Amino acid sequence: MTSASSGRSLWVRHQTLEKNSILLLIGILIAISFGGLVEVLPLFYLKSTIEKVDGVRPYSPLELTGFNIYVREGCYLCHSQMIRPLRDEVERYGHYSLAAESMYDHPFQWGSKRNGPDLARVGGKYSDDWHRDHLRNPRAVVPASIMPGYPWLEKTPLDPTHVAEHMSTLALTGVPYTKEMIDNAVADFWAQGGSDEASPDLLKRYPKAIARDAGGDKQQLTEADALIAYLQRLGTQVDFKLYDDKANIR
Ligand code: HEC
Repeated sequence: MTSASSGRSLWVRHQTLEKNSILLLIGILIAISFGGLVEVLPLFYLKSTIEKVDGVRPYSPLELTGFNIYVREGCYLCHSQMIRPLRDEVERYGHYSLAAESMYDHPFQWGSKRNGPDLARVGGKYSDDWHRDHLRNPRAVVPASIMPGYPWLEKTPLDPTHVAEHMSTLALTGVPYTKEMIDNAVADFWAQGGSDEASPDLLKRYPKAIARDAGGDKQQLTEADALIAYLQRLGTQVDFKLYDDKANIR
């Protein structure tokens, strides 16, 4: 058989494929799934697709409770938590977000809409009292604000009964909560929310956790307090000076 005739027979066979829509469809599916597999399979063999960064730790029980309230109230519908590496964003919000900074967020809160500003680095920008006023009625502190008020948050008492269960569920998905952290969840919850000073135990388990005496006794800890504990931690985990001096960025 000459090479010309084998080329022709291949052409005839390909014509059969092109003229039969079902065969063509199956052919296309095989070609596409091969392309997909080539992209997806390596991810199963990589240990991690996220570079580890010093300072990133899982949420403390109080912060996790606040995270859940953030999700429940749909704050992500107006706020992103993802600073892109573009000059205008970095100048407005601070260092661009690293993948590691949101690696323990389930579900992640990157968002896709910015009716309000990005919140990835809002931690430490305002006082707790500012947040309290802002959540109650945003127009009390930002007169032109279109953000809705959430006055019920400071009237709803917190109950940490289920926080340990949530932590063990997150542990199943790979968040490094240890047995010690889960066993002490309720104690750590009160140690952070109902006291002026972070106890050494709390700090050992959750470095840099800020204790916030929520003005009154434990029983008065409200949803607003947990949400504020969460907001005040956003973007404060990584000390960028350590990295940027080395890399000589900005
Ligand atoms: C309808 C859209 C909308 C929703 C929903 C919303 N916000 Fe806002 N938010 C805004 C707008 C607009 C601003 C800017 C004006 C202001 O500061 O009030 C803002 C500002 C903020 C700021 C100040 C940011 C900064 O850097 O000055 C914080 C913090 C904040 N929102 C938290 C929240 C939280 C927490 C929730 C959920 C409980 C929430 N927002 C829900 C629209 C929204």
